[in-house]
Formats: sequence, structure tokens, C-alpha cells
Amino acid sequence: MRFVVRGGKPLRGEIKLAGSKNGATNLMVATLLTDELCTLHNFPSIGDTAITAELCRKIGSEITVRGGMATVHTPSIRQSKVAELSRRNRIPILAMGPLLSRAGEAEVPILGGDKIGPRPVDFHLEALRALGATVEITEKSYVARAPQGLRGAVIQLPFPSVGATETSILAAVLAKGKTEIRNAALEPEIMSMMKMLQNMGAIVELGANRDIYIEGVSKLRGAAHEIIPDRNEAVSFACLALATRGEILVRGALQDHLITFLNVVRRMGAEYNVVSGGIVFSRPSLLRAISVETAPHPGFMTDWQQPLAVLLTQAQGKSTIHETIYEDRFGYAEDLRALGARIEVSNGCAEGHACHFSGKACNHSATIEGPVELKSDGKEFRVRDLRSGMINVSAALVSKGETKIEGVEEIDRGYERIDERLRKLGADIRREA
Ligand code: EPU
Repeated sequence: MRFVVRGGKPLRGEIKLAGSKNGATNLMVATLLTDELCTLHNFPSIGDTAITAELCRKIGSEITVRGGMATVHTPSIRQSKVAELSRRNRIPILAMGPLLSRAGEAEVPILGGDKIGPRPVDFHLEALRALGATVEITEKSYVARAPQGLRGAVIQLPFPSVGATETSILAAVLAKGKTEIRNAALEPEIMSMMKMLQNMGAIVELGANRDIYIEGVSKLRGAAHEIIPDRNEAVSFACLALATRGEILVRGALQDHLITFLNVVRRMGAEYNVVSGGIVFSRPSLLRAISVETAPHPGFMTDWQQPLAVLLTQAQGKSTIHETIYEDRFGYAEDLRALGARIEVSNGCAEGHACHFSGKACNHSATIEGPVELKSDGKEFRVRDLRSGMINVSAALVSKGETKIEGVEEIDRGYERIDERLRKLGADIRREA
């Protein structure tokens, strides 16, 4: 499937954020911790929630999805060993904790997901071992056992990994005794999961210095929870408003989740206005170049650097992006260059600020010089991964002329009916089989 886009027009109007992809899939897995019914509101119908539903159904969940609401009920663990799924993403490993707690054993397939670096899972497996599980890696799957149940422990994460923090929490809430997760990730999707677990009966709280404290309980009950709005969609739409010289009300955007991004917008000389129900992004003046470094929350999120890169092609001067989370997240630079962008990537750390990739061969910094008028004369791109696929769409909407983007199923994994929603902002985008 492909998108055909004719760009170069300002995008104006209002767009409502979908429920967060990464804040929905983790909650679906959290529902596996109880034999009672859970309800998830603001549920996004995207590829990644479909893959997670397949995983949960294999395990024994009854799932209904209707009108933005999902119910998940897992009265018993029918199958604790799921060696294969029809498609792959990063979620199955999160199910290890709930499976170990309810069935004493777990097997999930080796993970897929975006090709943005090696993406190991050693922190997840170490956390499960710390809680008393034995863990093996086979050719196709991760296999863990804890026949006597999991026991609370101190888990020291080497890096505030989102997934490993989620694995640790999901494994600890039903473990015997107390767990302390040190150097935990504190992304809004994790806070939301902690709130749902609390509502299910868990004892889980935040300490200072990235610590999370959990006191295991013997049983959790069902709960209803509202999935947070997708902050990655918010940044994509904000950058589109600014890059196309339009004005967009991003309905549902939460200032709390976007503080770092909003400061970047202001430093560039663009405008935002927090109103009831959302944030309006507009561009009254010339944009200034800026330097940005990605970091765990509350820093500038790695998933935001791609939409920002498109915007920076329109800013006056030389901007830099220093990616400190993933080794290989500038694959899209080549596509932007094909549209006329002046973007160079390098393996050095931007502005001499050494990060943990310093001295490694990976291209983790970019300089972008602007402003340039992006143009496309029928260029064709193939989507590399979810976020850079959305960049192909954004860059095509900013570029004068027609662009074709192949492989949009990957974009559908994370963005709900994106073409339909963008058309309401005046975008000329159509989907072809
Ligand atoms: N890491 C390890 N070992 C581990 C786990 C992580 O070395 O066991 C490293 C990773 O290789 C990476 C860094 O730690 O260099 C951070 O990875 P993290 O675990 O935080 O990422 P993740 O949980 O795999 C989630 C999101 C990503 C988002 C990152 C960072 C989900 C399903 N995915 O990934 O979202 O970029 O956190 O915020 O929640 C996306 O939505 O497109 C996406 C890639």
C-alpha cells in the first residue's frame, strides 16, 4: 500500500490525538495480571495494538474493541508459552512478568520492532532473574520459569530503559515482598501504567532519583483506565503546522507531557498557545536554528527528533540533533536530502558533548542547514520504520510537488487512519492499494 502526497500547502484546522501507542500496548499486557475484566478507554486501533491483542488472545484473553474502547478479560492463563506471533514488535517480553506470576512459567517470541539499533533486552532478563526467575534464550524465544513464584528484589537498571522498567514493574506487583527499581524510566506511559496498576490494587510508588518502590500483593482486580493521548502524534502535528506555515489546534495535547518540546518551539521563534482541550501551534515569524539532544523523559524524546528534523529544514541557520538513545536513527536523512534538505550525519557527538556512543562507529548526530524549499518531482520512498515513515509523510506535505510513499502498513502500526485525519487539515494525501 502507498500514499500519494501533493505538498507545499499550509495545513490548518484541528486534529484530535489518538490514544498513545506505547501507552496502550503496555496496559493491555498489564491486564494479564488479573482474572477480572479490564476496560481501556481512548483505545487506538493500530497495528501494534492488534499484535498485542493477538498475544493476549493466545494467552487466554477475551478481547472486544468497539468505538475507542477495549475490554480485556483473562479468566485463566490458557497458554503460558507463546513461541510465535503472525507479526513482531517489542511488546511480548512485557508479558513475561504476568505469566510468571500467574502460571510460574513464560515463553515469548524474540522481539521485532523498528530497526533503529541493536535494541538488546539484557536489562529485562536481568530484572526477571533478580526477581528469582531462571531465564534462557532459545533460537526463537525467551523462556523463563519461577515455579515457586517471584520474590521482591532491588533492580538496578544500567540505563532508564522504558521497556525494562515496564518489565520490572509488571513482574514485581504480584511478587512476594518489596521491590526497588533504581534508575527507572519515568515516561508518561509508565506513570499511566502505574496509575492503572494502583487502581487494580497494586502498591506502587515513586521515590526520588528515578526510584520506584513496589510492595507485592497476592491478587489484583479489574479496573477501567483512560489511555493517555499520544505525545508523539502531538509533536508530529505541531511540527507540520510550523513547517507548512499553517496553524493547527492539536486537540488532546497535554502541556505536562510536552514541556521540553514546547521550550524548543519557543526557542525557535515559533508560537504555541495552551488552550482548553489542547495546544495551538502557529508560526508568525522566521524560525531560528537550534541544538537539541535526545534523552530519557523529561528530556527531549528520541521519537521527536524525526518530525523536528523536517521542521529544522525550514529554520534559519545550522541546527544540530544529537541522538543519545538509539545508535541508528538517522536513516531518514537520505530521504530528506533527496527532497533538497541540507542534512549531514556523523558519528561524532554534537558540540563536543560526549555521550555513551562517543567513539563508536554509529551515526548519531546530524546537522541541518536551512531554510531550504523542499521539492519533489514524483520521488518515491519506501518506509524504513514507523517514525521515519511518518517523516516521509511530513516531508512530502512540506515539499512542493508529488511524492509517493510505499509500505505505509508500517505507519499504520502506530498512527490511526493518518491519511484521513490529515485530509481534514487540508492535506492532499491519498492511499492506493
Ligand atoms: N537497552 C539495552 N538493554 C535493554 C533495554 C534497552 O541496552 O534491555 C537500550 C536500548 O538499546 C536503547 C536504550 O536502552 O539504546 C533505550 O531503550 P528503551 O528500553 O528505553 O526503549 P524501548 O522500551 O525498546 C520504548 C518505546 C520506543 C521509544 C523508547 C524511548 C515502546 C513499545 N517503545 O522503546 O518507541 O523510542 O522507549 O523512549 O514503548 C516508537 O514508538 O516508535 C518507539 C521506538
